Amino acid sequence: MATDSYDLAVREIRDEFGPRVKVERVSGDLGRVTGDGPSIEELAAACNDGRIAFVRHLTAELASFGVSEVPPAHELVELILAELPRHPRALAVQTWTDGASSGGSYYHLLEGPLTDRGIEVSRARQEHVVSCFASKKNVLIGLNRLDLSLSDWPGGRMRLARSDDRVSRSEFKLEEAIQTFGLRLPDGGKALDLGASPGGWTRILRHHGQEVWSVDPGDLDRRVAADRGVHHVSTTAGEFFRRNHTRFDVVVNDMRMDQVLSARVMLDAIPHLHRGALAIVTLKGGGRNPLDAARRGMEVLRKEYDVQVARQLHHNRNELTVVARAR
Ligand SMILES: C[S@@+](CC[C@H](N)C(=O)[O-])C[C@H]1O[C@@H](n2cnc3c(N)ncnc32)[C@H](O)[C@@H]1O
Repeated sequence: MATDSYDLAVREIRDEFGPRVKVERVSGDLGRVTGDGPSIEELAAACNDGRIAFVRHLTAELASFGVSEVPPAHELVELILAELPRHPRALAVQTWTDGASSGGSYYHLLEGPLTDRGIEVSRARQEHVVSCFASKKNVLIGLNRLDLSLSDWPGGRMRLARSDDRVSRSEFKLEEAIQTFGLRLPDGGKALDLGASPGGWTRILRHHGQEVWSVDPGDLDRRVAADRGVHHVSTTAGEFFRRNHTRFDVVVNDMRMDQVLSARVMLDAIPHLHRGALAIVTLKGGGRNPLDAARRGMEVLRKEYDVQVARQLHHNRNELTVVARAR
């Protein structure tokens, strides 16, 4: 979960699994569900079907130690292997800290003895993930199947390479959503980008093979505007819907507006969408009660869309990314 949204995540967990579920804060953005709380499977299911949005990463705790009491690496490895149903051919090791560093020294600490046991070690894309979170005081070891982690990045902190062609910071949000939720955009599809300026999302949609209608009274970056697969319509979403009769396979919405208003614009989009069209929306946070506002926004969306997942991604600030399908 994000540090600012920690309390919202705890509230969602309790709303879903009961007010008595105990969540202890381990660091800024890391909490530990203790006692009779939900299992990692139950939590992952709630996060993957839109019931919980402010949790972005999960791991099942195996052990935790004070920093001065961490056992030698080969003992940690025995502990990890004892927990697995069979000797693994490969394991992912993901390390992070409560600061900016990646906790790389713990990766190397575990890599040696795991390799000695004939196990291929990598940072991602394995069936099982060993997590290692290090704070100034504690080291926490987790182990779970990748499909329960929610993201294949240490602590959910996705790092995307900056490209020279990048036109906005927002691009990362769309790229992260596409990767994290494994979204496939239709080959040669028509996509509508609402609130497109300066064109970051449009650029990503082009990379994914879409012809894009980019709607925003603001300008597009000239490199994006020069692309013949991009149609900039310099107007508001409402005006666009009154005038345009194209049918879209994909609609994305990164408009800067209140959650409920933004969701209502998505309802106006429905007559312009094919059935089953993919929708990716950022519901911008803010207000005194961002969780309730986000829930109201999703309630509006649900009138015409099947909401598949909602999550505050690493590159989101005070906002949620919602993935839905038009009914
Ligand atoms: C965060 S920016 C979008 C950034 C964009 N996704 C990118 O990657 O470059 C939000 C945009 O929403 C636009 N916007 C706000 N209200 C709008 C409306 N009613 N119709 C169209 N665009 C709108 C603003 O002009 C602004 O450019």
